[in-house]
Amino acid sequence: MPAEVRRIMGKYACSTCHAPEVRLIGPSWREMARRRYTPKQLATLVRKPQPGNWPDYPPMQPIPTFTNADAKIIADWLNQFKD
Ligand code: HEC
Repeated sequence: MPAEVRRIMGKYACSTCHAPEVRLIGPSWREMARRRYTPKQLATLVRKPQPGNWPDYPPMQPIPTFTNADAKIIADWLNQFKD
């Protein structure tokens, strides 16, 4: 995981609920990467989650302070995943 991604995960505690490969409270980064969200979509979903997108999981708590700049870094990282 790149340092700037790790920094963002630490800042918002995303890693409490999301791991790279395995299901925790929320889906793994690999699973989320398959949805190919744009930075804008990802920013919107983190600020205002749509639990209907993941019916197997409890609803994610909204993180209204999540910035567009941080969303871009996470989305660009996820969109490099190959499957
Ligand atoms: C307290 C646990 C928790 C934390 C902290 C958390 N998430 Fe989630 N996240 C979830 C759960 C559960 C889901 C699936 C249900 C949902 O989307 O509401 C989810 C779903 C998502 C999705 C998929 C959205 C969709 O609709 O497809 C993304 C992207 C995401 N999280 C990113 C993040 C990021 C980035 C952070 C940190 C800024 C974060 N999450 C912090 C629990 C969490």
